[in-house]
Amino acid sequence: MSTSPLLRKKTIEASLEDADSAEHGLQKEMSATQLTLFGVGVIIGTGIFVLTGVAAAEKAGPAAPLSFIVAAIACGLAALCYAEFASTVPVAGSSYTYSYTALGEIFAWIIGWDLVLEFAFGAATVAKGWSGYFTTLLGDIGIHLPDSIAGSDAGFNVPAVVIVGVVCLVLIRGIRQSLTLNTVVVIIKLAVIALVIGLGIAYINADNWSPFIPKSQPGTAATGLDEKPLIQEILGQPTSAFGVPGIFFGASLVFFAFIGFDIVASAAEETKRPQRDLPRGILGSLLICTVLYVAVSLVVTGMVPYTKLGVDAPLAYAFGENGVDWASTVISIGALAGLTSTVMILMYGQSRMFFAMGRDGLLPPWLSKVHPRYKTPYRITVVTGVVVALLAALLPLKVLGEATNIGTLFAFVLVSIAVLVLRRTKPDLHRSFRTPLVPLVPIASVLCCLWLMLNLPVGTWLRLVVWMAIGMVVYFGYARKHSRLARETPAGVAAD
Ligand code: ALA
Repeated sequence: MSTSPLLRKKTIEASLEDADSAEHGLQKEMSATQLTLFGVGVIIGTGIFVLTGVAAAEKAGPAAPLSFIVAAIACGLAALCYAEFASTVPVAGSSYTYSYTALGEIFAWIIGWDLVLEFAFGAATVAKGWSGYFTTLLGDIGIHLPDSIAGSDAGFNVPAVVIVGVVCLVLIRGIRQSLTLNTVVVIIKLAVIALVIGLGIAYINADNWSPFIPKSQPGTAATGLDEKPLIQEILGQPTSAFGVPGIFFGASLVFFAFIGFDIVASAAEETKRPQRDLPRGILGSLLICTVLYVAVSLVVTGMVPYTKLGVDAPLAYAFGENGVDWASTVISIGALAGLTSTVMILMYGQSRMFFAMGRDGLLPPWLSKVHPRYKTPYRITVVTGVVVALLAALLPLKVLGEATNIGTLFAFVLVSIAVLVLRRTKPDLHRSFRTPLVPLVPIASVLCCLWLMLNLPVGTWLRLVVWMAIGMVVYFGYARKHSRLARETPAGVAAD
């Protein structure tokens, strides 16, 4: 028995009981195919539609596809760890829940607090990207919104708030409706990507790929600590981009494009056969997206010189530059649809994690009530909607995106460590999916994610530290005292 409140753990059995309870349980609706679609629905978004261009123009040049491969390797290693957890503890709340049983309450809190950066900040980032495409399309038909209400960095972004509000309503109405909407949107999104690859190939000029890895040179937007990758600060190097290091800076940026496969794990409680279908959903969606990203970035960097790709809508731009204007418009409309499903699933992930935290008493429990008719956690969904809308309305795109990346990478590090811990503390636990080559894969996952974190700017690191410090204040000020585990079993419950 663990007696220290800091080390108290929730048992796996208790987590599963919560999931089965009528008042707090969620409906089981999803299959492996729906999970994969769900994964593709959230993964393909701002990353491929916007960041491909920035990665090519400012970080890696035509070697941007290599950045995608590096990021995919880190994500794949983390995914193998996520899949083991998801198949072992199939309850709502993603890695937060798994950490509660594997590592203890304070670690669960740390990871839950950190994941707000991935889910809420990520949703806000994509809502802001949505606003950019929406504003561009309105401009195409002659309606011009002022920068103060629709700009990416200034004022109060109204379109972003509107899309968050609409998504919030869909999520409250029910997971079945959300999935139907998601399936339609995923088909549109994949069709647009297929168009980019299939049509774009005809416009490739191989000269644009030469040199494939441009020589290292001073970073274009690189001024001050807010832009300087931490690794260069540690090594005392001047800020630079391109060359081989540029591939890694690019990987840290396009990592955003892969965020979301882990959210498939947060749907465990609404999955019909979680132990079989979750690993399939997670790894399947990641694989599909990696192939598509490499193909799209190869095609786009072949269509126009990489130096020109640092624009808001690089995929549409590449076709416009080659005189294929109709494709440019179709891509913009498809991107708008695609970004909608990404916002939706990121908000879904956030609301399910808050839901689990409320059920455990770490957040006020009244938040976790399930709607009597729709069977969705409606109160927490509204709170999530308000938080995301305010973030999207008020904070600059860059701050939101970088915060999302570092928060997610940090979560991946913690989850990979948790796999190792659970293997030691609960060696006999049934795992329908086992991470291969343990401890090699979890350790490689930790190292790869840390490496990508080191390639993020110093300013982003400072924001992560401040955010986690605030989390500790909330934990010791509220969550620790109100934890259900603390009230039910004051001495704490050990999982091992
Ligand atoms: N992977 C998601 C995107 O690229 C978050 O928008």
